[in-house]
Amino acid sequence: MIPLSEPVLQGRELEYVGECLETGWVSSNGEFVVRFERTLAEYLHVRHAVACDCGTSALHVSLLLSGVGTDDEVLVPSLTFIAPVNSVRYVGAWPVFIGCDDYCCLDVAAMRDFLTKECLRVEGVTVNRRTGRRIAAVIPVHVFGTPADMDAVQELASDHGLAVVEDASEALGSTYKGRNCGSLAALACLSFNGNKIVTSGGGGAILTDDDALAERARYLTTQAKDPGIEYVHGAVGYNYRMNNILAALGLAQLETIGDRLAVKRANLTRYEAALGPAGASRLLGQPSWSDANRWFYAYLCDDVAAKDELLTACGAADIQARPLWYPNHLQRPYTDMQAYRVERAVWFYERLVNLPCSVTLTPGQIEQVVSVIERVRTA
Ligand SMILES: Cc1ncc(COP(=O)(O)O)c(C=O)c1O
Repeated sequence: MIPLSEPVLQGRELEYVGECLETGWVSSNGEFVVRFERTLAEYLHVRHAVACDCGTSALHVSLLLSGVGTDDEVLVPSLTFIAPVNSVRYVGAWPVFIGCDDYCCLDVAAMRDFLTKECLRVEGVTVNRRTGRRIAAVIPVHVFGTPADMDAVQELASDHGLAVVEDASEALGSTYKGRNCGSLAALACLSFNGNKIVTSGGGGAILTDDDALAERARYLTTQAKDPGIEYVHGAVGYNYRMNNILAALGLAQLETIGDRLAVKRANLTRYEAALGPAGASRLLGQPSWSDANRWFYAYLCDDVAAKDELLTACGAADIQARPLWYPNHLQRPYTDMQAYRVERAVWFYERLVNLPCSVTLTPGQIEQVVSVIERVRTA
């Protein structure tokens, strides 16, 4: 079987995890958590990284830290893994779905039109005309590792009084206009689940340059326990801290991220060469501002029938290709929510296929995938 995206554990993972087991530091305290946070912050050039048990909890806490609460609204892309959308509901707020641009990221023109045409400014607050609710924040997501147009997002957010939570879960190692994804907003989040370019098995992080936000993030993710030996808790906290074993794994992965980034990019070039000019032009492109990690490779089919045919042919050939996420405004918990200019999200969903993109892919496996694509194309 050719997997879609499998982890590669070829650095000091075993040594570091072994150290946790030998020393007994297997839980939420330990030097690897601190080292992982420090190394991550240095890599991204941010002042603070707060390690969490997963990316979804990092998003949840970041929304709390942004002051988003009950019956607020948050702008989210329809086309993304569902986690950022769910995190909006965790704080009692409501998602407003925005469509995507040509690169599958948040459509900034649609965001601008929504804020100017569908909202009012009432005493310094941006209010949705339809619902009367405050628009409190926006969560841009760097889909497949391609950076969203963050300067434009930030400008709109600042003009309309919105907090920005950058979801960089898929974009560790990507840069936007030379700046690191994960450092482009007051609060940014990462995921380290199994298919990410750095995996800790499961994990996430909150990134910020703000000392007070970092301190509050650390507090909320550790049950909001006040200092000292007494069990006194100053807020409703969460058990979201990353444990030392996961951090040991994550640190070893982070030490070798450069190798995996190089392979991701080289494998994409191999796909392009094997597909030939006509096929290569069907791989989703990159905007001018992007130097992306090329985490996932997305191939554009002619229509729904061609996409289904390719997925079936890959399945029969034991190749793990996958469809895009079902657009979130069509997901059962969210069908009643407002969706604005989401047509392109549906269009991409109907046509895009994610091709195997593991760092372990061999040139022969790439040829195999391409031969299935060609067979379907010429059938
Ligand atoms: C864009 C995005 N946001 C959030 C998450 C959630 O991260 P986790 O699975 O670590 O909770 C993921 C991936 O899993 C993701 O791809």
